[in-house]
Amino acid sequence: MQICSLRLCWALSTLLTIAQAIQVAPYLDTVQIGPYYARNCQSNNNIIATLLNTLRDVLQPVITDLGSSTSSDAYTTFFKDIANALYVREVFSNITKGVPAPPELGTPSWAPILICVDGRDQVTFSEDGRQVDAYTRCRILGEVPAMIFLKSPFIVICPVFFTHPGIPIQSTASCLTVDPHLNRFVQNGKSLIMYQLWYILHELVHYYVYATKESHLDIYGVNACLVLRSASAVLNAQSYVYYVANVWLGCTSFPPPRTRRPGRGGSVELLEMDSNMTALNANESIALVVQNVSIRAAPPVQTSRELDPDLTS
Ligand SMILES: *[C@@H]1O[C@H](CO)[C@@H](O)[C@H](O)[C@H]1NC(C)=O
Ligand SMILES: *[C@@H]1O[C@H](CO)[C@@H](O)[C@H](O)[C@H]1NC(C)=O
Ligand SMILES: *[C@@H]1O[C@H](CO)[C@@H](O)[C@H](O)[C@H]1NC(C)=O
Ligand SMILES: *[C@@H]1O[C@H](CO)[C@@H](O)[C@H](O)[C@H]1NC(C)=O
Repeated sequence: MQICSLRLCWALSTLLTIAQAIQVAPYLDTVQIGPYYARNCQSNNNIIATLLNTLRDVLQPVITDLGSSTSSDAYTTFFKDIANALYVREVFSNITKGVPAPPELGTPSWAPILICVDGRDQVTFSEDGRQVDAYTRCRILGEVPAMIFLKSPFIVICPVFFTHPGIPIQSTASCLTVDPHLNRFVQNGKSLIMYQLWYILHELVHYYVYATKESHLDIYGVNACLVLRSASAVLNAQSYVYYVANVWLGCTSFPPPRTRRPGRGGSVELLEMDSNMTALNANESIALVVQNVSIRAAPPVQTSRELDPDLTS
């Protein structure tokens, strides 16, 4: 098991490996929200429904942006190569539809299932031969808002998730500012993405990217995302989140593409990052990724009732 140090959590992936045999208590209440399932969210079902509905609306202009024949500045900033726009679009489109991940990967075909864990023995998985409780894991790095079990439909929503702000105010005033001399954003991007809406998006991106590419990346800081090659950016959940947040807020200020050589014309390369970029507290990491999950039994989805998305938005 690899747990990142406090200082590196933001920049490095917070991988937790070798999870197997995830078990979900069968008594947890299940609600269907559009194509998605929410389990054990109870009084928070409406919050989850609002987030999923908002996400669907937020993604529409993004999907449009990705359908155009030229790259927008936001796309170029985070994904670079327009050749990948179709794939990125497919990820977002599948999120809006809650498409079940293809079963070929050894996973039963399920739309993502969000499980609000608020106590022990609700979700457990075996890791390094020990059975680990997701509730405990929610707290192991301080306070983790959410985690995803790769190769399974399960996304765990931890208790602290609900203490974060839900949906950002849609205003260009929230955009990050660019330092033209350093050719990078002034901030590390935290202010943009520490919202429930973006945590959910982050996990859902992992879900679809892993289902189609069997790989994932967790680079969090916005300036670290800027330097990813296109092929890496499409694996990195947070690159998608920054891109969507920038489109949605209407941001127009991005560091120019890296065409100049380091040191020329007073500009330095992005790779010269200061240590602040990676220095974030443990409880500011977005999500844990739990790999190598095998599902012992198909997830029991007994729909007890359905929330009408249109009534809850
Ligand atoms: C996942 O499992 C495979 C074989 O079951 C193993 O080779 C691989 O190292 C595991 N990956 C991780 C990250 O634990
Ligand atoms: C999106 O869904 C379609 C249809 O189910 C599937 O063929 C495709 O692989 C999915 N792509 C992604 C990126 O999730
Ligand atoms: C780095 O972090 C310190 C302490 O949080 C802060 O005072 C300083 O302004 C930061 N530097 C940059 C370049 O952001
Ligand atoms: C976690 O965040 C809270 C504020 O949200 C802060 O008071 C606390 O010190 C942080 N814990 C760690 C371990 O950084």
